[in-house]
Order: sequence, then structure tokens, then C-alpha cells
Amino acid sequence: MANTAPEPRLITLTAPMIPVAAAIHQAAFDEEGWDIRALSELLAMPGAQGRFAIGAGDQPLGFLLSLHILDTAELLTLAVDPVIRRHGVGIMLVRDFLANAKHGGATNAFLEVAEDNIPAISLYKREGFVSAGRRRDYYRRSGNIRVDAHVFRYPLAQI
Ligand SMILES: CC(C)(COP(=O)(O)OP(=O)(O)OC[C@H]1O[C@@H](n2cnc3c(N)ncnc32)[C@H](O)[C@@H]1OP(=O)(O)O)[C@@H](O)C(=O)NCCC(=O)NCCS
Repeated sequence: MANTAPEPRLITLTAPMIPVAAAIHQAAFDEEGWDIRALSELLAMPGAQGRFAIGAGDQPLGFLLSLHILDTAELLTLAVDPVIRRHGVGIMLVRDFLANAKHGGATNAFLEVAEDNIPAISLYKREGFVSAGRRRDYYRRSGNIRVDAHVFRYPLAQI
């Protein structure tokens, strides 16, 4: 049977949507999830942008926050509701981020991701991000466990 589910649509993440975004972030990152205050502060930063993916029946599916300063766009966070994983929402948000960065005049796009985050690293590599280094002990997990960050960049000139 053909899949007739509509494509998710992307809308600008505005302040009234932050509580829903925080709930998705906490479901996506467990105890490392960001709360309403943290997300509000990030979204209020000059150059911050947020995009929300919405599904059928206005179901919130996931979101991406980014920071655009001069010629650089940074992907700050990306979270997809665990109930809708592997349906293309993450890659849709990343492609939208790259297109917006390019459209806004950025020449560099980058992000940091925990070295053990296989789903996210797989997504970024598949999309064409390339490794640009490593930050030692960048993330702190419960139990005082430290995890390195991989830094990935995207060559925006190629799109
Ligand atoms: C990473 C994350 C955003 C991916 O969202 P998603 O909507 O499930 O991803 P997509 O369906 O768009 O996947 C696109 C591609 O990424 C790769 N990928 C995604 N999840 C994967 C997994 N669990 N294992 C391996 N590869 C994976 C695959 O190549 C996939 O394509 P495919 O399904 O055709 O094989 C989601 O798993 C998430 O929210 N994780 C927790 C938060 C997080 O880690 N955010 C990123 C921090 S930098």
C-alpha cells in the first residue's frame, strides 16, 4: 500500500513553542536535555534561529536550533521525538539549516557532537559533513564521565 502520510512541514520556532521543544529535547537527550529556560536563553541570543518540524494533525516532531554570526552558522542542537525516529525528520531539519545558512551568506557551517552519538554522526556524515577535529572531554555525563566531541564542518560552497 502506498504511503500517503503528508511530508512534515517546517515552521519558525517561536517563544510560545519552547515548552514543547523542551519536552522533545528532554525525551531525546534524557538527563542532558535542555529545559525551557535554557532554550529561551539560546533562542534570545542575537543570530539564533529555530525551526520546528510539524506532522499530520499539527503533531510536533522535532526541532533544530542554530546560531548565525557573520559568515558562520553553528548547529546548536537537533532533537527528534523518539516516537518518530528514522522517518527523515532529522535530515529534513539539517538540510533546511544548511539551505538557510547558505541563503544568509554563511560560508562555514559546523557543529559538535558526542563521539558516541552514532545516530547523529551517521546522519551528519551521510549528509556530507566532514570531520574538523575533536574537543577532548567536552561533554560531562552523570557519574562525572567525560566524552569527547567531534567537530564537523560542512563545505557550504558546494551547495
Ligand atoms: C540524531 C537524530 C536527530 C536523527 O533523527 P531522525 O529523524 O531519526 O533521523 P532521520 O530519519 O532523518 O535519519 C537520516 C539518516 O541518518 C542516519 N541515522 C539516523 N538514525 C540512525 C541510527 N539510529 N543509527 C544509524 N544511522 C542513523 C541514517 O543514515 C538515516 O538514514 P536512513 O534511515 O535512510 O538509514 C535523532 O536520533 C535524535 O533526536 N537523537 C537524540 C538527539 C541527538 O543526538 N541530536 C543530535 C545532537 S548533535
